[in-house]
Amino acid sequence: MDTIALLDGKRIILGVCGSIASYKSLDLVSKLTQSGVAVDVIMTEAAQRFVAPLAFQSVSGRPVYTDLWQSDADGGLPTHIAHIGLAEEADFLLIAPATANTIAKLAHGLADDLLAVTALAAKCPLAIAPAMDGAMYENPALRANLEVLRSRDVHVIEPEIGRFASGLSGLGRLPETSTLMGQVRRILGLDGELSGHKLVVTAGGTREALDPVRYLSNRSSGKQGYAIAQAALDAGAEVVLISAAQHLAPPIGARLVSVDSAGAMQEAVLENLVESTALVMAAAVADYKPADVSQQKIKKADHDLTLPLERTADILMTVKQRRADTGYPMIVVGFAAESENLVENATDKLQRKGLDLLIANDITANDAGFQVDTNRVLVLDMDGGLHKIDRRSKADIGAYIIERIGGLLD
Ligand code: CTP
Repeated sequence: MDTIALLDGKRIILGVCGSIASYKSLDLVSKLTQSGVAVDVIMTEAAQRFVAPLAFQSVSGRPVYTDLWQSDADGGLPTHIAHIGLAEEADFLLIAPATANTIAKLAHGLADDLLAVTALAAKCPLAIAPAMDGAMYENPALRANLEVLRSRDVHVIEPEIGRFASGLSGLGRLPETSTLMGQVRRILGLDGELSGHKLVVTAGGTREALDPVRYLSNRSSGKQGYAIAQAALDAGAEVVLISAAQHLAPPIGARLVSVDSAGAMQEAVLENLVESTALVMAAAVADYKPADVSQQKIKKADHDLTLPLERTADILMTVKQRRADTGYPMIVVGFAAESENLVENATDKLQRKGLDLLIANDITANDAGFQVDTNRVLVLDMDGGLHKIDRRSKADIGAYIIERIGGLLD
């Protein structure tokens, strides 16, 4: 796993409470550490009944704090007031899983263990991920405590519906690591450079129906568009992700609009452009669709089949008109997938479609473009600037595009 720019070098305190879900936090610490975070784990006494501190120490590579009173060597803090230092240096305090007991302590300002004291002393953002049995999660006392915490700007990461250790099912399960990671990114990104800006990102290859079972499509996976959406969230933007991709988990915090055809994508784009700062058209939109969609499955015959195709609308050309009429989106970024004359064709697209930035792919390279996790691109701008990015992760290229959008806003 690569480091994540937003997280790299950050200090996060992870409070772990006594819940069967506390084993899941090991994976979270591992993923945070791999992303470049220094994770200081504080375990409550009950948490240590479920998982040994050594397990957390092994994945974080850092001391694990367990006791308000003991010295450094015994799992306590370097000095009896060091929790203040720990809290002061932290960029973020996450309590996952947060039990009903710790939530009650936080709501009432109790300070009888190291985690509660640290939470009281911390000035950084605080998030809690409640995890408990469904009946406990419905309890009015717990709900009232959560409301108190929300009113104090504590971020409450909603639990999920699922099966509990008791065998019962309900709302109260700790979300999976990927969701918790996404929530950490969303919360840490809130004050980013694009805070207050709305970005619309399209992704994936559109599908044009031929009959009830078949469609025409292309090899786009949607990965680059999803990476751009994640980078925009990391920068604090409100993100609408209009996606024709089928098998990708959307970044946490993005509003997902799923579409299939070019026509549906166009409709969704125009609907969401109102007051948008930028549109990034990373989707591979079909240029042609079957002239007729058969209502019944097309049966095979003894002769060849010729399919008449008709043009779809060019979404970026429609957006060019919309922008001229309304002023939105303020910035338009397009992509160009080319197999020959890259710069020439890309420059023509940039001008013809009225783009501020154009990201050009040479789709003949096998370590770039469709399906893979890396890309190599040329970034052209409306002032004639040309920037080459050699083989980098799609996440890095997403972050670069978002940085350029920030630059255009300045
Ligand atoms: N695009 C669009 N609407 C279409 C086709 C493409 O908005 N019907 C957008 C793509 O999302 C991309 C840009 O236009 O941002 C360029 O797409 P590309 O497929 O490279 O170019 P085309 O315009 O389809 O031109 P050509 O097929 O001649 O390369």
